[in-house]
Amino acid sequence: MTGAAPTVLNILAVASEMFPLVKTGGLADVVGALPASLAPEGVVMRPLLPGYPAVMKAAAPESLLDLPALPGGGGRICRGRVGEIDFYALDAPQLFDRPGNPYLGPDGRDWPDNAVRFAALAWAAAAIGAGRLAEFVPDILHAHDWQAGLAPAYLRFGAQPGGRVPRSVMTVHNLAYQGQFPPGLLASLHLPPESFSIAGVEYYGQVGFLKAGLQLADRITTVSPTYAGELLTSAGGMGLDGLFRARSAVVSGILNGIDTELWNPASDPHLARPYDARRLKARAANKEALQERLGLAPEAGTLLFGVVSRLAWQKGLDLLLAAIPTLLAEGAQLAVLGTGEAPIEAGYRAAAATHPGRVACLIGFDEGLAHLFQAGADALLVPSRFEPCGLTQLSALRYGAVPVVARVGGLADTVIDAGAMALAAGVGTGVQFAPVTAEALEGAIRRAASLWREPAVWTRMQRNGMATDVSWQASARLYAKLFRDLLA
Ligand code: ADP
Ligand code: GLC
Repeated sequence: MTGAAPTVLNILAVASEMFPLVKTGGLADVVGALPASLAPEGVVMRPLLPGYPAVMKAAAPESLLDLPALPGGGGRICRGRVGEIDFYALDAPQLFDRPGNPYLGPDGRDWPDNAVRFAALAWAAAAIGAGRLAEFVPDILHAHDWQAGLAPAYLRFGAQPGGRVPRSVMTVHNLAYQGQFPPGLLASLHLPPESFSIAGVEYYGQVGFLKAGLQLADRITTVSPTYAGELLTSAGGMGLDGLFRARSAVVSGILNGIDTELWNPASDPHLARPYDARRLKARAANKEALQERLGLAPEAGTLLFGVVSRLAWQKGLDLLLAAIPTLLAEGAQLAVLGTGEAPIEAGYRAAAATHPGRVACLIGFDEGLAHLFQAGADALLVPSRFEPCGLTQLSALRYGAVPVVARVGGLADTVIDAGAMALAAGVGTGVQFAPVTAEALEGAIRRAASLWREPAVWTRMQRNGMATDVSWQASARLYAKLFRDLLA
């Protein structure tokens, strides 16, 4: 070992969302947190984002690189900055200057040109990868989810002037969205006919964006070690398990963290009262505020379960609807903050109407309220059918809301079940359940309720959770090592 500082690496992160500019889920949090987390490791990471209105607002007007040949019409690259993050915006108003959700039109359906929109993002990334942006020449393209999946394909098949080929990493955050589009689009995506093969972008007769990335990237990562294992199974691989198994030598899982400054109960501006592990009693003011805000009965001694989630099949919240009678029979309350699939939204609205003061839901996306949920709820329910990592259970640990989670993916990796052995050893941080059924969830709710009835045990679990390292530090080191190994 020499004492010399390692060389600085340049990484272009390619993603469709980034906190605080555009967020529909945890992907945004991760993309927004990695640059600062990697800086101490000598890694300069700059995200490339679609030029949605909120992104262009944070970007400078000058063009750093004109891209007249971009799929879907011309575009340009502008530089932006938000907080401490330097990023690049792909300014292409015909593709991205649209209000609201980054993927869905006003009718709630995918924009019909999503293939071209996100192909353009990946194509622009490959242009930067080829060295065409003088001020930032990346060593590695780091592609996130299907929206960036074609980036490794353009490195392979879409020769760019400049000709330089960086290495590439494809990270899977959510396998439920794979980005499959008709093969007739190939030419409009600037992909040559020879790319349409099993060794390229072809996937069951379609152009598969995520498949392309998984096939062609130098490394594949996902966001927890357990989920990395689940990807290789027929149940977890969602049709891609064969590919994951074939490439298992380059597949790994690195846990997400959370931004522990943004998520800090001692200084969080969204709370009614700040607190820390030594002043847990101050949580009561937050619980009261949450109950009041949602119209729940103002009962300090009642166990309050919270949910902060996309309302999607993945999250198992239909199972929780079925478990509400059990939850109420235990004397508990339920508060839900979420938005997503119409039938699940309707289910929670109906449950709230049937059980006023006991069950409440707020259908919508509210960043500040998500913080109050973590500070005010006694327990946070995450009954996911699959969960690549999950971030809400990490915030819950940090905020002393005891996580009650399905034993899958990153939930299994981050919550320590307070079973008899863990309790005896004083290490439990929450409750896990398996299999992911309404019955097992009901069992977990009952177990949480019986732990709640032992205040000393409950407080111990809260403190254990709050002492857990949920920061990015350890994982940033693993990413930095992966990047350096890839270039070695
Ligand atoms: P996923 O990315 O699958 O949605 P994660 O747990 O990884 O799940 O990340 C979800 C992120 O989105 C967290 O930061 C969570 O606080 C936030 N979030 C989810 N739903 C809402 C909502 N309705 N309002 C505010 N924040 C939300
Ligand atoms: C995804 C996953 C979630 C993960 C997040 C960030 O949306 O559903 O488990 O935490 O991405 O990686």
